[in-house]
Amino acid sequence: MAAPLRPMSNLAPRLLLAGRPATRPTRTTLLQHHHHHERRTAATPQARTHSTTSSVSASELTHFSALASSWWDPMGPSRILHLMNPLRHEFIASCLADSSPSPSSPAKADLHYLDIGCGGGIFAESLARTIPTDPDAAAPTPTRAASMTAIDPSTNLIQIARDHARMDPAVDAHLRSGKFKYLNTTLEDVLATTPSSSTSSPSSPLSPSPSAPTASPKQYDMVTLFEVLEHIDPQTSTPLTFLTNCLRALKPGGWLIGSTISRTLPSFLLNQVVAEAPWPIGVVPRGTHEWSKFVNPPEVRAWLQEGLMRGGDGVAGRGGQGLLEGMQWRCVGAVYVPGFGWKMVPGSEDWGNYFWAVRKGV
Ligand SMILES: C[S@@+](CC[C@H](N)C(=O)[O-])C[C@H]1O[C@@H](n2cnc3c(N)ncnc32)[C@H](O)[C@@H]1O
Repeated sequence: MAAPLRPMSNLAPRLLLAGRPATRPTRTTLLQHHHHHERRTAATPQARTHSTTSSVSASELTHFSALASSWWDPMGPSRILHLMNPLRHEFIASCLADSSPSPSSPAKADLHYLDIGCGGGIFAESLARTIPTDPDAAAPTPTRAASMTAIDPSTNLIQIARDHARMDPAVDAHLRSGKFKYLNTTLEDVLATTPSSSTSSPSSPLSPSPSAPTASPKQYDMVTLFEVLEHIDPQTSTPLTFLTNCLRALKPGGWLIGSTISRTLPSFLLNQVVAEAPWPIGVVPRGTHEWSKFVNPPEVRAWLQEGLMRGGDGVAGRGGQGLLEGMQWRCVGAVYVPGFGWKMVPGSEDWGNYFWAVRKGV
């Protein structure tokens, strides 16, 4: 239960103070605890094979794949992701409201989403539920979602995600119409396999003017990256490379939105020391956290700026100062308050969890 619990782990003391551990020790989590060292070295047979440029760590993949069967248990190891989900929608709505200049036709469900590292689909499915069944509906939902493509390198998790989505007839209808897609793939493979085309990246409804003809991968209006950045493989990738790739999948004027954990002293104490103490004090298996892979808001912002400078808009030769000038940046800490759930607390970014967003210049 490592990474679903990584974002939660800094909350462990507060949750325990509330009289209830954030997760109960399921058989799965106990097994994971026992086999932690194995998971750090062995690749799962369930893992999809990836290109050599993949940012996916075999041990992370093994770990997440093992969580698949309990992913939708609201009291299971992914509990904190379930609890956090409403805040993601709130943050996305605040970004859309902050899009300036304002979209010219906000009364439409016209935004195409890509969710990278969707896991078992907690966010992706909730977003798909906001896609109007009737495309001519007068009022769009706050997400303005027209479609959702959700990708994850774990075969097990994509299977669980699809199975769960099929249980809701409205969401299942979106799966069958193609407005909602789950793909067992990596970001790198998506970028590599999308055919180049001068029409593959139409202008975004969030962009006031059509984008220039491109030779770029397919691009989306909204790209989301929740609790993934801290799991990429440092042997094969870097946060800078990964975020630059995320930006390549984003249309000019679109938002790349994520959440992750700060690498600070408070987060070290809470994530590594308290949360990984023996159960029942700790709520995650020892060795779950790799604090060194956590990232601070100024780092994320600098990498995104560098990514844009490197042509992260996917338009050959178009990277540079101009894109930086049009960039918008948002960041806010998120804190779990027992009894109330997650709250955005501006200024709490250094404590651990935070949301961040960048809008690519147009
Ligand atoms: C903590 S889970 C978050 C799942 C989902 N985003 C959520 O918040 O509900 C991390 C997910 O990232 C995926 N992942 C790990 N490394 C990845 C990589 N390099 N690229 C894309 N996804 C990755 C894992 O398979 C896992 O599903």
